[in-house]
Amino acid sequence: MMMIGLFSGCELLGDDPTPGITDVEVIAYDQHIQTIFDSRCVDCHGASSPSAGLRLDGWTHLIQGSKFGEAIVPFSAHDSRLVKLLDPIGAIKHPKNVGKEILSDDEFGLLKRWVNEGAIGPLGASPFSSSLNLLYVAHDAEPVISVIDTDAQIVVRRVRLTEYGFSENARAQHVAVEPDGSFWYVSVGSTRSSDVQGVVKFNRQNVKIGQYLTPNPGLIVLHPTQNVLYVSRSLSANEPRSLIELRRADMLAIEIPTTFAGIRALAVRPFGDFLFSSSTDVDQMVIVDLSNLNVSFFDIAGVKHEFGQFAIAPSGNRMWGSGMESRTVTLFDISNPTKVVQRQSLNIGGRPLDLTYLPDASKVYVSVPDANKITVLNAHLELIEREIRHAGISDPVGVTTNSDGSYLFVANRNSSGSYSPRQSFPGEGSPGTLVVIDTASDTVVKVIELGSGAAMTGSRFVVPRR
Ligand code: HEC
Repeated sequence: MMMIGLFSGCELLGDDPTPGITDVEVIAYDQHIQTIFDSRCVDCHGASSPSAGLRLDGWTHLIQGSKFGEAIVPFSAHDSRLVKLLDPIGAIKHPKNVGKEILSDDEFGLLKRWVNEGAIGPLGASPFSSSLNLLYVAHDAEPVISVIDTDAQIVVRRVRLTEYGFSENARAQHVAVEPDGSFWYVSVGSTRSSDVQGVVKFNRQNVKIGQYLTPNPGLIVLHPTQNVLYVSRSLSANEPRSLIELRRADMLAIEIPTTFAGIRALAVRPFGDFLFSSSTDVDQMVIVDLSNLNVSFFDIAGVKHEFGQFAIAPSGNRMWGSGMESRTVTLFDISNPTKVVQRQSLNIGGRPLDLTYLPDASKVYVSVPDANKITVLNAHLELIEREIRHAGISDPVGVTTNSDGSYLFVANRNSSGSYSPRQSFPGEGSPGTLVVIDTASDTVVKVIELGSGAAMTGSRFVVPRR
C-alpha cells in the first residue's frame, strides 16, 4: 500500500489519467479542486435540486455544506464528511454507492490534502476565518472542542487538545468567550488524574496564548466589566476546595478558598458585584463579594439539591439553580446578595443540569439529560411552560442562546445512541449533536451532528455581533 502511494506520482506517470496531480506544490482551488467536482460531482450536486442540498459548483456553495451540516471542516480531513464518504478504501466509497465511479487515489489524496491545508478558496482564505458569531462545544468523550458558526449553523473548526500539549485523556469541561470574540478560554481536565490540567487561553485563530495549570477545573464565567474570569471545579471531582480568579490579560491567578468540597455551579451578577457558587457535597451556597473576595455562605433548605449550575436573570434579581439530586429547579431572590431568599422549587421529572435565560428574560431553558428533554420555564410566572422533545435531543447537556435570543443551541452527548446518524462510519461511536431550537415557537429547526462518537459537555456564551 505504501509503495503504491509513494511511486504513483513518478513511476506510473505514463498510465495516469491525470498526470502530475500528486506533484502539485501549491493547490489552486479553481485549477485543482473545482475541476474534480466539475467532472465527478456536479451532475448530482449542481445548482438545480442538488443531492442532500449540497452544491459543489463553487467554493462558496461547498463551504455552506448540505441541508444537514458541513461537508468539510477546514484543517481536519479526519473530521470531514466529504473526505470520509469519498475515501476509496473507506466503508461507503461515495459516489460508488449511488452508481458512479469512485475517485482515483490521486484525486482523493489531493482533496484530502487541500482540506488539511485549510480548504483555501479562490481568494486565498480558509472558510469562516472571519465569522462573527461562534459557539464552542466541549466534548467529554474525546480531547476536542467543536467550533460552530451560529449564523451558518455548521461546524467550522475542530480544535484537538493533543496538538497543544495535552494527552489523549484530556477533556474540555467548559468554554467562555470574550464579548468581542477576540479570545476564548477552556477548562481542560483529564480522565487520568496525573495529567496536566488547567485553563487555557486561545485567540480567535485558535492559537494558544497562555494557560494556568490547576487540577479539576470546571465551569468558567467572565466578569461582566473587569478583566478577570472565575473557574469552579469539574463535576466528577471534589478537590481542591477553592474557586479561582484569573486575570484574563496574563492568566495570573488568585485561589479563593471555599472550605468545602465539590465546588460546581457558577454565576456572576450582571452588575459584577457578587459571585454565586455551590457545592455538590454539602448543600451550601458560596457567595463571594467581588470587591474584596470575602466569602460568605448560605444554607440551602429542604432536601439535598446538589446544584449543577446557576442562571441569573438579566436584571440581576433572580437566580435559578438546577438540583441534580432533588430533580427540581429552585428559585432564589438575590436582589440583596447579602440576604438571599430561597423561593419555590419546581419538580422537573429528571436530573436537570445546565440552564440559561433568554436575553429578554422571558424564559429559562433547562437541560434534563436523563429524561432526554429540554424544560422551558416561564420566567415571569415562575412556572414550567413546556417540554421540548426531539430525536436529536438525546442526553442534552449544555444550553446557550445566540446574542439576540432567536435560537437556543443544545449540545447532546447522545451517550445511549438513541439518535442515529444519517451515515455511520465503522469505528466511530454514535455522534453527539447540536440541536438548534427556534425560541419563538420552541421547535427544533436543525440537528447538527458533531462527529466521531463525540459526547458534549456544556458550552455557553455566544459572541455578540460587532
Ligand atoms: C449520481 C449522483 C451523485 C454523484 C455523482 C455524487 N453524489 Fe454526493 N450524494 C448523492 C446523494 C443521492 C447523496 C445523499 C445520499 C447519500 O448520502 O448517499 C449524496 C451525499 C453526499 C454528501 C453528504 C451530504 C450530507 O451532508 O449528508 C457529500 C459530502 C457528497 N455527496 C459529496 C460528493 C462529492 C464530493 C462527489 C463527487 C466526487 C459526489 N458527492 C458525487 C449523489 C451523488
